[in-house]
Amino acid sequence: MTRKTLAHFFAEEVRAHPAVPGALAGIVSQLALASKVIARETARIALHNRTGSAGEANITGDEQKKMDVYSNDIVLKALRGAPGVAAFVSEEMDEIQVLSDAAEAQFIVCADPFDGSSNTDINGSVGTIFGIYGTKSAGPLDPSQDILRKGSEQVAAGYVMYGTSTLLVLTLGHGVHGFTLDGDVGEFVLTHPDIRCPAKGKYYSANVGNHRAWDGSTRQFVDYITEKDPATKRPYSLRYSGALVGDLHRILLEGGIYFYPADAKNKSGKLRLLYECAPLAMVAEQAGGKATTGDQRILDLRAESAHQRVPLVIGSAEDVALFGKFSQNGKAQ
Ligand code: F6P
Repeated sequence: MTRKTLAHFFAEEVRAHPAVPGALAGIVSQLALASKVIARETARIALHNRTGSAGEANITGDEQKKMDVYSNDIVLKALRGAPGVAAFVSEEMDEIQVLSDAAEAQFIVCADPFDGSSNTDINGSVGTIFGIYGTKSAGPLDPSQDILRKGSEQVAAGYVMYGTSTLLVLTLGHGVHGFTLDGDVGEFVLTHPDIRCPAKGKYYSANVGNHRAWDGSTRQFVDYITEKDPATKRPYSLRYSGALVGDLHRILLEGGIYFYPADAKNKSGKLRLLYECAPLAMVAEQAGGKATTGDQRILDLRAESAHQRVPLVIGSAEDVALFGKFSQNGKAQ
C-alpha cells in the first residue's frame, strides 16, 4: 500500500481544487500537532493523574474535566503558532480568543478540544472537533460578521478520535478523508480515503435514558425503528458511548442515526452549534449523509451566540429524513 501523509494529501487537494485556501495547511497541521499531544496524554491519563474533574464548570454548565482544561490549553498554544488564525472559539473558554489582527490572519477556528470527557475516567474513546471559517470583515474582527456564521460557510471541518487508534477525519469541502496516526513516525497517514456514509443504517445512537423527556414524535420514531420488520431491516440496534465523536464515527462508516433532540430539560438540545454540530454536519454532508435539528438543516443555521445549543439529528440521509418525517407529523397533530 502507498502511504500518503496528511501534508502530502493537503498539497494535492490544493492543486486539485483551487478554491481550497492553501493558507489552511498551516492551521490543519497545527491542529494535527495538538491532537498528537492530546493523543499521547490520553494514553497516559491515569499515569499522569489526569482523571477526574478540574473542579470548575464551563460557560454552558458542563463540569470541566482535567483533560478538558489540558486539551484546551494544547489547542490554544498550537493555534497561537499558526499565523493564519485570527480567533479561536472554544467550548472551554467563555470569551472568543482573538489571536492575531495581522493581515494574514484570515481564519476563525471553532473547536471542542476534548469531546466526550465523561469517558476519561473509564478509558473510553474521546475526541476533538473543529470547524474553520474564513474571516469576512477587513480590519479588526467583528464577532457578528466573522464568528456568528452559518455552518455552510465553513472552509474545513473535522474531528480526531482518540480510540484504539488515533484517527483524524477531515473535509476541505471535497469529500471526507481519514488519517490514522502512525505513532512510530509521528505522522497522520491516509487510511480512509473518500469516506461515504451509507444511505441507511442499522444503528441508532441516543441517550435513551431521556426518553420520557423527549417529545412524542421522537418517542414514536424510536418505537418505529425498534419494531421488528426484517423487510425494512428493523429493529435497529442501539449503540451509545456518551461521546459524540465515537458515536458519529461508527455511523459515518456503517450507517445509522445519532440524535440529541430538544427535551424537557434541554429546551434547545444539548450540543453546541459552532464547535460540535456545524463541523460534524459538514463532515456528514460531505460524506453523503445529512444533519438537521429534526426540521432544519444544521448548515443553514446562523449562530446567534458563540455557545448556542441546538438539537442535532445526524447520520445516514434516509434515516435523518425519516426522523424529520416523524417530527413534521408530530407538529401537524
Ligand atoms: O457535551 C458533549 C457530549 O459529551 C457528547 O460527546 C455526547 O454525545 C453527549 O454530550 C452526551 O450527553 P449525555 O451524557 O447527556 O448523554
